[in-house]
Parts: sequence; structure tokens; C-alpha cells
Amino acid sequence: MDGFKERLNDSVQVRLSVTLSLAILIVAALAGFFAFFSAINETHEMQDETLRQVAVLFDRQKMTLHYPVVEQVAGDDEESRVIVQYLADSTKASGSGDATTPLPFPTGLADGFSTLSVAGENFRVLVRTTASGERIVVAQEADVREKEARKSAWRSLLPFLILFPVLLLVVSDLVRKLFRPIATLSEEIDQRDEQALHPIDENHLPTEIRPFVVAINRLLTRVAQSMETQRRFIADAAHELRSPMTALSLQAERLSAIEMSAAAHQRLLPLTQGIERSRKLIDQLLALATAQSSVERSQASVSVHDIYRRVLEDLLPLAESRQIDIGVESFDEVQVVGNEMDLLILVRNLVDNAIRYTPEGGRVDLAVEWAGESVILEVKDSGPGISAEEQLLVFDPFYRSLGTDEAGSGLGLAIVKAIADRMGAHLRLSFSDEKNKSGLCVSVWLKRAS
Ligand SMILES: Nc1ncnc2c1ncn2[C@@H]1O[C@H](COP(=O)(O)OP(=O)(O)OP(=O)(O)O)[C@@H](O)[C@H]1O
Ligand SMILES: [Mg+2]
Repeated sequence: MDGFKERLNDSVQVRLSVTLSLAILIVAALAGFFAFFSAINETHEMQDETLRQVAVLFDRQKMTLHYPVVEQVAGDDEESRVIVQYLADSTKASGSGDATTPLPFPTGLADGFSTLSVAGENFRVLVRTTASGERIVVAQEADVREKEARKSAWRSLLPFLILFPVLLLVVSDLVRKLFRPIATLSEEIDQRDEQALHPIDENHLPTEIRPFVVAINRLLTRVAQSMETQRRFIADAAHELRSPMTALSLQAERLSAIEMSAAAHQRLLPLTQGIERSRKLIDQLLALATAQSSVERSQASVSVHDIYRRVLEDLLPLAESRQIDIGVESFDEVQVVGNEMDLLILVRNLVDNAIRYTPEGGRVDLAVEWAGESVILEVKDSGPGISAEEQLLVFDPFYRSLGTDEAGSGLGLAIVKAIADRMGAHLRLSFSDEKNKSGLCVSVWLKRAS
């Protein structure tokens, strides 16, 4: 009960349905009440009319009476009989109340309708003076009349009884349909990822919720602007840090060329490694900020093999230093739609990971195949792969698996995801060797250039 009250307070939809249902119930009850009593009145009027017609017929046809005189109305029903007798004959009444002798009506009755009790029973009575001057009584039992009137009154309620549940169903369906745009809107917003800050389409929305959506759109624009400002700040900061880092790295290089003691050399090594790591981190930060920025990129038809070749040229020394056998599996020339720089960064990060996380002497394969309108790029390695639980986490910025000796910033896959999102490309991580659950296989679905 408390739950229902809470829902009634919280939900406009429930409140509207309940209020409309109650309104329908009240209207139906009032209408039913009036229909019931007007049906009773109408039946009584019809019954009076029947009595009047019997009297007129009797008068016009100049009929004479021989007791018993009983007219049947309303079918075979014994009780709905109409009694016709001369008013003067009332004095011959036996008082038994059966149809064989006249009933003891008061002889002083005035012409017209009246209801009176005769021989222990209530009668509706019409007294009429005929053309020949005799006074006749046409009567019917009041109880029978009442029973018939009620029967027809109950029948008049039938349409309300059928219409009420139908109306309730129509109302609840109508209310649900009225609120459907809100449900659809919530679904659409729920399905968005955190980067999708484009305005909500307000064109097909009811005017009542449009101002709310317009306000949300203004908020989305402000949030997008603020995020863009933050990204630009990170990009600017990374960019500004690059030059002093390059200078530092050059100084360290120069220093290492100078003759110095073995101990000094030993100290210099972590310093140069640290500088190198910082340079890589700054480059990755800049790449992530660029990948996430909303600035439009030029789209062109890009050769996948060209990308693979340039990445291999860059990373072959690293692969050789780790004795990794790296190669391209297929040789078909395939073109995809996208920005060349984005694609290059995406593939380089994947291949860099594959080489660095595969133990020495392992294999890395780059493949490309097409499926309909899509082109699937695959980077597979013979390393340990990424477990299903970790696959959900590795795209987060700065996430790094525990227990890896490799130096890294944890931004590579976040950059890959940002680029894939902005290109509308689908990404999937799986195992290269599904049976042994080993080796990472990253698949990227891209749009094929025509
Ligand atoms: N091919 C792979 N095989 C096994 N684990 C991987 C592979 N690629 C990525 N990972 C795991 O996912 C984590 C995140 O990778 P990501 O590329 O985002 O960061 P990183 O390589 O540590 O740093 P960065 O790429 O910025 O230098 C890595 O720390 C690693 O543990
Ligand atoms: Mg990486």
C-alpha cells in the first residue's frame, strides 16, 4: 500500500491513470444511477400505456365482460395479467383475489390512474367511463409491474458494465502511449557512452517535455565545452612539456658520450630511462587528448597495407630486439575510410603492445579481411592474452595489468578506444588461441572504402 502511495506521488503516469480511472468510475456510477431510475420510470409509463390501450380497445370494440376476464401481456407470464372489470361489479367480489370473480375495487374511484391495495395486494388501476356510460377498471398487480421495471432497469446497466473495463483499458493504454516518448528518450540517453555529448533530438517530442530537453541540451553543450577545454589544456601541457623533455634527453645523450667513471655511467642509465618513459608518457597524453578532441578530422580512403608497412618500419627494431617474428598474414590490397594519422596511431599502439607483452621468441601477426561493407583489421600475438575480466578494464586510461615488467603509461588502449569511437569502428578483444586461452587478438571493424 505504501509502495502504491509512493508511486502515486512520484509518477505522473500513475497519477494520471488513477485520476482518469476514478473520474470514469464516478461518471459511470452517476450515469448508471440515472439510467437505472429512468428505465424504471419508463417501464412504468409503458405499463400505464398498456392499461390505457386495453381500456380504449375495450371501449371502442364495445366489448362485454364475462368473468373471469384476464388479458395476458408480456408473453405467457401468468403474473403479468391485466384485469378488466366493471367498477360496479366490485360489489360482487368474493374477496378471494382469484380471477374467477371480480375484485373488490372501491366503487367511488375517480377516472384515471391510481395505485391502491385491494384484497391484500397492491394494484395499479385505471378507471375509465366508456361511451355507453359504464365505468370499467383496468388493473395490474403493482408487484409484478415493479419486478418487470427492475428487470429492464438492470438490463439498462449492462452497457455501463461492459464499457467501464473497456474505458479503463483504453485510458491506461493511452496514458502509456503518451509517456512512451519519455521512455524512448531515456533508453536513447542510457545507450550513449560518456563521450557522446551531442544534443538530444527534440523535434518529435511533445511540447510539454521539449523545454526540459532544451535545457538538458544546453547543459550537454556546456559539459562538452568544459571537457574540450580540459582536453585542450592536457594537449597544450603535453605539447609544452615536449620541448624541455627533448632537450633533457639530448643533454643526457651528450652526457653519456663524455668519459666518466663506471659508477657515474651506472647512475646515468636510470636517468635516461626515466627521461625516455616521461617522453613516451607525454606523447601518449598528447595522442589521447587529440583522439578525444571533437575537432573534425579529414576523412580519406586509406590503404591498410600502407599503414601496416609504416608501423612495421617503426617497430621492426623493437621486434628484432625481442626476437619476435612479426609478419602480415594476407596480401590483398584493402582501402578503408578514415583519417590516416588516426589509423596509424591505432595500429601502432596495438602492434607495440603485441610486441612488448609477448615473451621473447614469440609471434605477432597482422591480418586484414573483409566482411561485406566492413574491413576487419586483426593484430594477433602469441603472448599471454588478456583475461575476460581484465578485457573490460584495459581500455580505461592509466590501467595496467599487475605483474608486467614492461614499462608503460597505460594509455595505449585508451587511445585505441578513443580513435575507434570517433571513427565509429567496433573493437573486440579475444584470444588468438581460443582453446588454450592464450595470445591476444584485437579485431577492429572499419568501413570499407568504395
Ligand atoms: N597484447 C597484449 N598482451 C597481453 N596484455 C596486453 C596486451 N596489450 C595490452 N595488454 C595489457 O593491457 C594493459 C594496458 O595496455 P595499454 O596499451 O593501454 O597500456 P601500456 O601498454 O601499459 O602503456 P602504453 O601503451 O601507454 O605505453 C597493459 O598494461 C597490459 O597489461
Ligand atoms: Mg600499450
